[in-house]
Amino acid sequence: MSLFATKPLSRIMAESEGGKHTLKRSLGPGSLIALGIGAIIGAGLFSLTGIAAAENAGPAVVLSFLLAAVGCAFAGMCYSEFSTMIPIAGSAYTYSYATMGELVAWIIGWDLVLEYAVGAATVSISWSSYVVSLLHDWGLALPAQLIASPWQPVRMPDGSTVYGIINLPAVFIVCLISLLLMIGIKESANVNAVVVVIKVTVVIVFIAVGWAFIKPANHTPFIPPNTGTFGEFGWSGIVRAAGVIFFAYIGFDAVSTAAQEARKPQKDMPIGIIGSLIICTILYVVFAYVMTGLEHYTKFRGNAAPVALAIMNTPFAWLKTAVKLGIIAGFTSVILVMLLGQSRVFFSMSRDGLLPRIFSDIHPKFRTPWLSNLLFMVFVSLFSAFAPISVVGHMTSIGTLFAFVLVCAGIMIMRKTQPDLPRPFKTPLVPLVPILGILVCSLMMYGLGWENWSRLFVWLFIGMVIYFGYSRSHSHLRKANGG
Ligand code: ALA
Repeated sequence: MSLFATKPLSRIMAESEGGKHTLKRSLGPGSLIALGIGAIIGAGLFSLTGIAAAENAGPAVVLSFLLAAVGCAFAGMCYSEFSTMIPIAGSAYTYSYATMGELVAWIIGWDLVLEYAVGAATVSISWSSYVVSLLHDWGLALPAQLIASPWQPVRMPDGSTVYGIINLPAVFIVCLISLLLMIGIKESANVNAVVVVIKVTVVIVFIAVGWAFIKPANHTPFIPPNTGTFGEFGWSGIVRAAGVIFFAYIGFDAVSTAAQEARKPQKDMPIGIIGSLIICTILYVVFAYVMTGLEHYTKFRGNAAPVALAIMNTPFAWLKTAVKLGIIAGFTSVILVMLLGQSRVFFSMSRDGLLPRIFSDIHPKFRTPWLSNLLFMVFVSLFSAFAPISVVGHMTSIGTLFAFVLVCAGIMIMRKTQPDLPRPFKTPLVPLVPILGILVCSLMMYGLGWENWSRLFVWLFIGMVIYFGYSRSHSHLRKANGG
């Protein structure tokens, strides 16, 4: 069988229907937008904005947010077309199986581990920073060696700098959420909506309170001059920062994994995906403007809880605690959605035979892929414990951008190979929009620098070894095709 054999759409749709694994179609447009915002707003906004401003773009991180939003909008339209055409779980992995064949599908599925599992590790490290900072406010100082990875200098809330041994709070939250997922998670739209309301309130309160205290001097110069090194301020810094804070937009694609649970996917998926993206873009741009206006960007260097630092420049320092609590709640839901998304993607891959059955083994009582959750608990915990946030954050971004590039390419291929399929949502101006999506996402990938490219290649290489060593010979499609 060819490496590029595609899984017929009729087969994909048939497998998703009937049987006890059928998901309930209960989500309307409001819930889908809430799901998107629930997965989107998190560490990217509350932690990476400060890092990107301090290290790459200064106040011009505002422009980086706009650049990243443009790339996401192009990709978001392609995701919308796919999710209305193939409204089932599995997202980019399933789309590519139908369009570009098994090998590319494998690559995307493997690559999505960077988005979901490594992404969850990134957010857990931010979660840890904010919890440590909150405990410090309450007079509880955890030992420095137990709250940070060995590689990264971390500025303590009192201003001193330490190196850690292990980031225990980050491991704690990953284990807690994994256990929750194992014993069954009724991720009801209502609970998610409550968290979304808390998060959006925190963002709006920060903007409303901070706006009047912006110091114009902090915004001057708006684009600090380049230091002579690519990515350190100037225009290249804006591009690099866009690659960094792109992380903040990750999650709108998670809406597409809920396509199988949407009441009217044909109508509501584009609303969920593009609606959550638009709302978050507006909030992000204004938020970044206020944050860099409250505190000089250089002060955010090495500070993983920059929102708290910024708010100290207003007379409402007492708001700090409420804001931190809201942020911590928000992070928790992002970790949850990411670990859930991860198990869904590996579930689909395992059902197709590309991964061992352990990943689709359902617990008889809890009805969750608990062994998969357990394995990812260990894998993600290792990253949470020992990796610096910038490394895992960048790996997540480059992996997700790569998936977006392939989804954009998939739309063009699908228009050629299956021109007559019903498309309830059509990406406008094909091939222009997907091509622009590929260009902007590639530009952001380029901006992430060669270290992150090397990490991506190493990860994909490991994936290739597994594919040719295991998956190819176990593929159900290959067996069905007599290969
Ligand atoms: N966009 C999500 C976050 O920023 C992943 O935490």
